[in-house]
Amino acid sequence: MERLLSPRNLEEDFNQEMPLRPVWLKDYIGQEKVKENIEIFIKAARERQEPLDHLLLSGPPGLGKTTLATIVASEMGKPIRKTSGPAIERPGDLAAILTNLEPGEVLFIDEIHRLNRTVEEVLYPAMEDFAIDIVIGKGPSARTLRLGLPPFTLVGATTRPGLLSSPLRDRFGIMCRLDFYTVKDLACIVTRAASILGIAVDPQGAEEIARRSRGTPRIANRLLKRVRDYAVVKGDGSITSEVAALALSRLEIDEQGLDNLDRMIMEIIITKFGGGPVGLDTLAAAVSEEPDTLLDVYEPYLLKLGFIQRTPRGRMVTASGYRHLGYQPPGERSDGGLFSLDEE
Ligand code: ADE
Repeated sequence: MERLLSPRNLEEDFNQEMPLRPVWLKDYIGQEKVKENIEIFIKAARERQEPLDHLLLSGPPGLGKTTLATIVASEMGKPIRKTSGPAIERPGDLAAILTNLEPGEVLFIDEIHRLNRTVEEVLYPAMEDFAIDIVIGKGPSARTLRLGLPPFTLVGATTRPGLLSSPLRDRFGIMCRLDFYTVKDLACIVTRAASILGIAVDPQGAEEIARRSRGTPRIANRLLKRVRDYAVVKGDGSITSEVAALALSRLEIDEQGLDNLDRMIMEIIITKFGGGPVGLDTLAAAVSEEPDTLLDVYEPYLLKLGFIQRTPRGRMVTASGYRHLGYQPPGERSDGGLFSLDEE
């Protein structure tokens, strides 16, 4: 089965999600603070006829970092070149990209925290002085030659801003953190996507999908398509809250938007590790997932819901996490009260 939390795949990007993605800032729903700031910086840069300052976008996957980078390019009236940290293997690869940019072009580097150090060092003068330093020759006769670049805007995206080295982080003039979307904003995103795709969805249907999309537009748009399939086969094709709730329960997405793996993560901490704390690597092995996937994809939303806690000794399930899975939290009586020491 298609994993609803699976990372973006390129085919989906180009075939399906692309038309859904807004191209202009006015069509971008939610993230009001980020939007307001970016709007002001873009206006100011345009008035000065300069490229926008380098911009770092951070936040969990699926919240629209790539979309915002594309919007920055369209609002600046410039092309965009997209690549990613792991795709740039050698300094020469990055130098080739940089020397081929058009003046004012937006260079988008996804997963910028995964750039290797030697490649990263090419970026420092490029970002600061629009130049790269090329070393010619070897040994005592080696010389460096400075090559000018067209002015450009680097937009970096990362799920882990903490992993960026400080010289790289310091070279971004603008830093924006994207947060999970509200249900209201996600319902607007679902309604907008439904109208683009020609899907009939009523406001309650859109809200039901939004509520179970774990604050993430990419998931909301995927769920919309799966619910549409269900509505077409089982109903008259239109999405009401009943159809949405039924379809999403069939997909084993619960009322809070948790899927099987979210529940398995909490269940394993409770049943195998006494509620925690348990270290990330041990937990990842127990659920057969990559530690990075747990860190980037699963934990942020479980933390936001307050179902798990990160402690210095590992992950723990909280009392509300226990209750969500139908377990009684430790130290709590079945009537919901707490055990007290003077009550024997
Ligand atoms: N599609 C995906 N993310 C969106 C957003 N933030 N606003 C509008 N449509 C979207």
